[in-house]
Amino acid sequence: MTMTSKRNTPIFTNGIVAEHVLLKNGYYKTVFIAPQVAQTAKPGQFVMLSKWNIKELFLKRPFSFYEIEPETGRFSLLYKKVGKGTAVLSESKPGEQVELIGPLGNGFILPEKVKNIAVVARGIGVAPLLPLIRKVKSENRGIYSFLSASSKELLFANELVEAVSLNTYYTTDDGSKGLPGNVTMFLEDLLREDPEAIDVVYTCGSKRLARHIGELQQRYHFQAYISLEERMGCGIGACKGCVVETSHGYQRVCKEGPVFRLEEVVLNA
Ligand SMILES: Cc1cc2nc3c(=O)[nH]c(=O)nc-3n(C[C@H](O)[C@H](O)[C@H](O)COP(=O)(O)OP(=O)(O)OC[C@H]3O[C@@H](n4cnc5c(N)ncnc54)[C@H](O)[C@@H]3O)c2cc1C
Ligand code: FES
Repeated sequence: MTMTSKRNTPIFTNGIVAEHVLLKNGYYKTVFIAPQVAQTAKPGQFVMLSKWNIKELFLKRPFSFYEIEPETGRFSLLYKKVGKGTAVLSESKPGEQVELIGPLGNGFILPEKVKNIAVVARGIGVAPLLPLIRKVKSENRGIYSFLSASSKELLFANELVEAVSLNTYYTTDDGSKGLPGNVTMFLEDLLREDPEAIDVVYTCGSKRLARHIGELQQRYHFQAYISLEERMGCGIGACKGCVVETSHGYQRVCKEGPVFRLEEVVLNA
């Protein structure tokens, strides 16, 4: 089956907090029951979320789907507490209600003929890639994973990822897992050995990693996609607050993205 970027109509709905877990200091996973959203969500898409009774969350905040369970009508988010909105979310309790708009954005494209993919992520940047990894695995295609973080404590879902990957490569800035350095050096080694080992590379978040992938792409000609994060006002294409510069003009991350072809994005912006 091929994943396409065909959009589903976003739904304005309520969700109920089903589970809430502190994973590591400042990092949380919250599971929501919202069947209409979970049943149509695709890897790489996101939701806008708010708790309307709390004024700090008046503007909804965007979060990528981390786990999608259409059968149970649930999805989860993996997030870092960075400001007022995520602080409120980090105190969620089972049974609480949230307001949602989703699924939003275009999601990852997985071309039909692809045999092996690579995912390249730093820290919590793995979150949007996990549903894609699961999808690729369920279609019996191969996954090479390249994970980095400042320290091994800030690697997320790496055991899950490792369990379904042909190989998982690590770098950490402090050397606590894998080697210090840039994780794309392993991608380069793999491609040097077998230039056709990987058909598509997916990444999220880190523009530094994305620039290295872009350099490798010019040499090895694989397809590459990046999921971008920008501050968002509306999440539905109306406010133009989330634009990024691309090779064909400014594009809205919430509407034309968040997934873009890597070579389209102006990465030094
Ligand atoms: C499509 C998309 C998917 C996302 N998925 C996730 C996810 O899965 N997990 C996760 O932890 N975060 C994710 N984010 C980022 C998340 O939306 C922000 O961390 C959140 O909105 C911060 O809200 P806040 O009220 O806590 O922080 P604020 O008080 O609004 O801001 C606190 C700090 O965070 C910075 N910040 C806020 N929003 C963003 C943003 N969008 N990008 C970069 N910096 C920002 C601000 O500049 C400020 O320094 C995603 C963003 C987008 C656009
Ligand atoms: S957030 Fe309003 S247009 Fe993207």
